[in-house]
Amino acid sequence: MTPDRKIVARALSASAAIALLFTAGCRQDMQDQPKFFPQRGTNFYADGRSVRPQVENTVGRGQLHEDTYFYTGMVNGKLGDGMPFPATLQVLERGQERYNVYCTPCHSRVGNGVGMIVQRGYSKAGNFHTARLQAAPLGHFFDVITNGYGSMPDYAAQVTPADRWAIVAYIKALQLSQNATASDVPAGEHAEPLSSIAEREGFSANFADEWTLPPTAVTGTPDNGLFLLPGSGAPPATDKVTTPHPAPTSTNGPSSTETAAPRQ
Ligand code: HEC
Repeated sequence: MTPDRKIVARALSASAAIALLFTAGCRQDMQDQPKFFPQRGTNFYADGRSVRPQVENTVGRGQLHEDTYFYTGMVNGKLGDGMPFPATLQVLERGQERYNVYCTPCHSRVGNGVGMIVQRGYSKAGNFHTARLQAAPLGHFFDVITNGYGSMPDYAAQVTPADRWAIVAYIKALQLSQNATASDVPAGEHAEPLSSIAEREGFSANFADEWTLPPTAVTGTPDNGLFLLPGSGAPPATDKVTTPHPAPTSTNGPSSTETAAPRQ
């Protein structure tokens, strides 16, 4: 290599190194990327709107909702009575699981409307075993979950339409469970009335009966289940610390059972 060429090569590699330095210092963070701000205009589109209107005659994927009964529980604007798909054992099990997650806090596992939150002061939730709700069409239950009812919030965001129907089927099973007869039991199966099991365990014979709430739940004062950390507020009365979980009695039986061991 001639001295001239050497100089040129050196200069080239030096400028390459400088260019590399510059590009390394030149980065774009995510918060600085070009983007649209909600409700703010743009000059990218001819009409100046960054929020694009829906393209005519198109439907978003998964948003056709052609099966109106499945999505609303209504037939021609009236509540329908029936499942949009067969209530198989699998559907009922799913319904039970979802019901226990989303509905029991207020309605309780047996659906009498005296769940844990109600016992702690929330408005009384509906009792599914009243004559009116026993006779209510299935679409009504779907509608209540979808749109809420009185002081009950809606659960449309948390529970998918298919799961809402599964819950509806399970509520129907809960209702039937309080009105079953010996002829509902398959031949050869041993069956013992729930009422006799309940009474033996010291609970109300009819699970659907409303439970008498322990007095602390009504007054809203901290109940025995609450522990105070040392130094956090006034010391509780001594008996409240030593007996955190009262033994089940017939007055608050099912509720204390729910605390101790969730019934399946
Ligand atoms: C945060 C508490 C709460 C939860 C959770 C809750 N509900 Fe309710 N629900 C209520 C209350 C309160 C009422 C009574 C509302 C009223 O009458 O104003 C009610 C009433 C009802 C009724 C009776 C409507 C009628 O015609 O009287 C049904 C059915 C019902 N809920 C179903 C459900 C189902 C199914 C779930 C679970 C997906 C659920 N609820 C979850 C509080 C709740």
